[in-house]
This record gives sequence, structure tokens and C-alpha cells, in this order.
Amino acid sequence: MTALDLSSPVAVVGTGTMGQGIAQVALVAGHPVRLYDTAPGRAREAADAIGGRLDRLVEKERLTAADRDAARARLLPAGNLSELADCALVVEAVLERLDVKQELFRELEDIVTDDCLLATNTSSLSVTAIGGALRVPGRFVGLHFFNPAPLLPLVEVVSGFATDVTYATRAYETARAWGKAPVACADTPGFIVNRIARPFYAEAFAVYEAQGADPATIDAVLRESGGFRMGAFELTDLIGQDVNESVTRSVWQSFFQDVRFTPSLAQRRLVESGRLGRKTGQGWYDHRDGAERPEPDTAERQQPPAYVVAEGDLAPAGDLLALIREAGIPVREEDEDNGTRLVLPSGGQLVLADGQTSVEFRDVVYFDLALDYRKATRIALSASQDTAPQTLAEATGLFQALGKKVSVIGDVPGMIVARTVARIIDLAHDAVAKGVATEEDVDTAMRLGVNYPLGPFEWSRRLGRSWAYALLDDLHLRDPSGRYAPSLALYRHAHASDKREGTAS
Ligand SMILES: NC(=O)c1ccc[n+]([C@@H]2O[C@H](COP(=O)([O-])OP(=O)(O)OC[C@H]3O[C@@H](n4cnc5c(N)ncnc54)[C@H](O)[C@@H]3O)[C@@H](O)[C@H]2O)c1
Repeated sequence: MTALDLSSPVAVVGTGTMGQGIAQVALVAGHPVRLYDTAPGRAREAADAIGGRLDRLVEKERLTAADRDAARARLLPAGNLSELADCALVVEAVLERLDVKQELFRELEDIVTDDCLLATNTSSLSVTAIGGALRVPGRFVGLHFFNPAPLLPLVEVVSGFATDVTYATRAYETARAWGKAPVACADTPGFIVNRIARPFYAEAFAVYEAQGADPATIDAVLRESGGFRMGAFELTDLIGQDVNESVTRSVWQSFFQDVRFTPSLAQRRLVESGRLGRKTGQGWYDHRDGAERPEPDTAERQQPPAYVVAEGDLAPAGDLLALIREAGIPVREEDEDNGTRLVLPSGGQLVLADGQTSVEFRDVVYFDLALDYRKATRIALSASQDTAPQTLAEATGLFQALGKKVSVIGDVPGMIVARTVARIIDLAHDAVAKGVATEEDVDTAMRLGVNYPLGPFEWSRRLGRSWAYALLDDLHLRDPSGRYAPSLALYRHAHASDKREGTAS
């Protein structure tokens, strides 16, 4: 089944933020579009607002005046649901309540033909539950657009339990014909993006709760080392703490309080206090006029070490060896079967974050994962009270000699970027193993939906197949709550690679 014909009318019900965006997308693609909203006058206002946006596209020369005029003529507010009778697709973007959505679709079913594709833009409700109210649930799908819909390409096309594959395909092909990047997914809490992205927020908040570092430092490490566009604290201030927390709570509840999705107490307190982020002037940060943005913790300048000894290949941080040499610091390489580390002149060791804590070893400094050690502008280090000050000074001086700023955080196992990336990789493997989506669609969804610099599977391949498993296994040993327990899918993945590499016992 192919995309809807462009001559087929499309209806958008609920003409708030999302409804207007979706209507604009369908309209610019070429469909006649009907708008309906229960609030009196709202559909007309929405049509005017969309018209204004089309004017701006003309000003920016992204749309011709003739196309704008034709599009405006195709856009009609409807005073009554019955005016949607000839539509081939109805996309619902009304308020996020199951009973309201079910009631709307029950009413619509008596109006449209049995072949009309019905779609919900819900972010957090079960597509299956909404569709359960229908007489013909096979033609019901989730079409989850991201805000702002005209700009963001990702659309999650969600098949509920009863969705007929021909209708899911029609929805998918239609989204593609509208210039979007659709991904197919099963009806699961959070779909793809909101399920797999949870640890990005949760781990940053957990490091903060463990007194590992302050928000400005964690955000700086996520951006400047992890390669994320924004840190978790600044991003949730932008999204709204109430909105972000409610997505987390909804995913956690829908998974029957699975500990891997447990919400953050620190974020709860923030929401309770009314500090919801930019929209209220305060969140993790103070956004009021004149407020200064706190600086991340950055270590004072230290002497670089005279040399380093590399034991093992340092994978997946192997690029560091070339960078150290380029900085003029001699590297002596020694083959080492047991682990991989840099030994500093003080005798202390520098080890990539691995889910253990510095207190377990004599004189160890951990360094965090970077997306790309050459491009990273900041590296986090962690040490325990048992780490010799000279070892920490040499480790700091080493990264500074490579042109990096250094943030020394508390002794938090898995540090900041490493634990976050490992958990995202784990949830991605778990989702694919449970039939939520393909690896390719998961990668597309995370890159386009939340701007991750790499998809979880690309990241996993780059880091080595058993890297995330080993890190989470170590974290799970130190926090046996289950939050870090690697999934069976990740275990299988790591084990299969061990066998291929001939290292399984
Ligand atoms: N805002 C986002 O970032 C975002 C992103 C993706 C999905 N969503 C989902 O999209 C939907 C709409 O969200 P929004 O942010 O656009 O909300 P909104 O509050 O901006 O708009 C909702 C509109 O629906 C209308 N409405 C309420 N009940 C109605 C009914 N029974 N029939 C017709 N119209 C009705 C309201 O009058 C309002 O105009 C929700 O399901 C939400 O979860 C939102």
C-alpha cells in the first residue's frame, strides 16, 4: 500500500502546538487540510497562524507566493466533526487523556469511511488502548511527530496490537511522501525515543544526587566530551522539568515500575518547588534577567608528566596515545594481558571509566569516555581519597597538555559520559531484541529525535561490542538494585563477540 494520494483531504483534530505543525506539513506537501478543535474559534485561529507561517516561508524564499496562495486555499477550518467525512486520514492532536481520545475516535468512526486511516499523535498513551475503543481498530496507528513538526524530520509510526500492517505501511509511506524520516515501531512505553533516551537524564541526575558534580560541570562534560548538543540539566530546563518528569514517570509506570526507569528524587523536588525551567525563570539554573550562568568546575593548570607508560591498547580510548605523542610527551608501550591503562611517573594509574570506583585500587585516576578524544575540549577525571595528589596532578597536566580542560568529579563509578552511553546502548539492544524497532530505525530515531551525535548501535560498534556490557556488569555489582543490570540482549551481544574473538572461556 502506498502513500495517500495528494488529492485526498487530511484532517487534523486538536489545533494547538502539534496540530498546527502537523497540518502545515500535510498542507505544504499538497493535501487539502481540514482543521477541527472543540474550543470555539480555535480552528480559525490555527488556520490564520499557519497562514502567517507560510508568509514567513515566502519571505525566506523557501516557498513561492503562488504555492502559498494555493496552500491557503486548500486549508479549511471545520465547524463540526461531520465536515471531515471525506477525509482519507485524520490525525488527532488533542489533549493527552485516554478517555478524551477514545471518545473522539468513537465519534469519528461514525463519520468517516471504514477505509479512513486514523492516527494519534500521543506521546505517552498506549496506541493499543486508544485503538481499543474502535470498531475497526486495524486502521488505527500512532503518528508521533516531534515539536516543532514542520522542522523536525522524525516521525515514529507506531503499530498498536490490532494495527493492520497495510495501514501502518500507508501511514509510513505518507509520512515519507511529506518529506519526513519515518521509523516503524511497536506500541511500547515511550515508543523508541522516549524509552531509550531516559538514561540521558537519569544518569546526569544520579551523578548529581551522588554529589559527583554540579549541574554546570555535568552539562559541560556531556557537551564537550560526550558530544551531546546540550547537557541534561540545560535541556530539561528548556523542555520544562514538569514535562520531562511526566514522560519519565509515564514510562516508569507503564513498565510496571521497572527500576531501570526510576524517576529522579532531585528532579521531583525541583518540580515540587515550582522551578520548572526557563518558563518559570528558574529550574536547575537561574534564567531570570541578569542571573549569571554558573561555570563548570575546571582544574587549575598542572605540569604535564615527563612520560607515560601505556599498558594495553587503551581501547576504546586508543586515540589518546597518538595525541599524547603529538603533544611531545614520550609514550612507552608495554604489552599487557591484564587490563589496559596509562602508568604515570608517580607510579599511579590512569584508567578509562569502567564501572569500578577508584577506592577499590591503590592510586588510580579514572578518565571519562569521549565521543572523539581528538575533538573533545574537556575531559572529566575522578579520584578517591586514596589517590595520591601527585597522580591526580599528573593526570590533569596530561590532558591539559592535549589542549583539554579538565573537570575533576567525585568518585562515581562509570563517571558521566561512560555510564550514560552504556545505558543508552543497553536499552537500545533490549528494545530491538523485544521487537520494538530495527537497529537502523533506533539509530535514526535517536539521531533525529534527540540529536544524539551517534545512534546507539553506531556507538556500540565504535566502542567494541562488549564495552557497554562490561561497564554495566561492574556497575550492577556495585549497585545491585537492578538499575544497571545489563539486559539479556546485551549479554548475548557481548558474549557472541567474545566467542568470535576467541576469548570466551
Ligand atoms: N507538545 C509537544 O511537544 C508534543 C510532542 C509530540 C506529541 N504531543 C502530543 O500531541 C497532543 C497535543 O499536544 P499539544 O502540545 O499540541 O497540545 P495543545 O494543548 O497545544 O493543543 C491541544 C488542542 O486540542 C484541543 N482539544 C482538546 N480536546 C479536544 C477534543 N476532544 N476535540 C478537538 N480538540 C480538542 C484544545 O482545544 C487544544 O487546542 C498530545 O497528545 C501530546 O501528548 C505533544
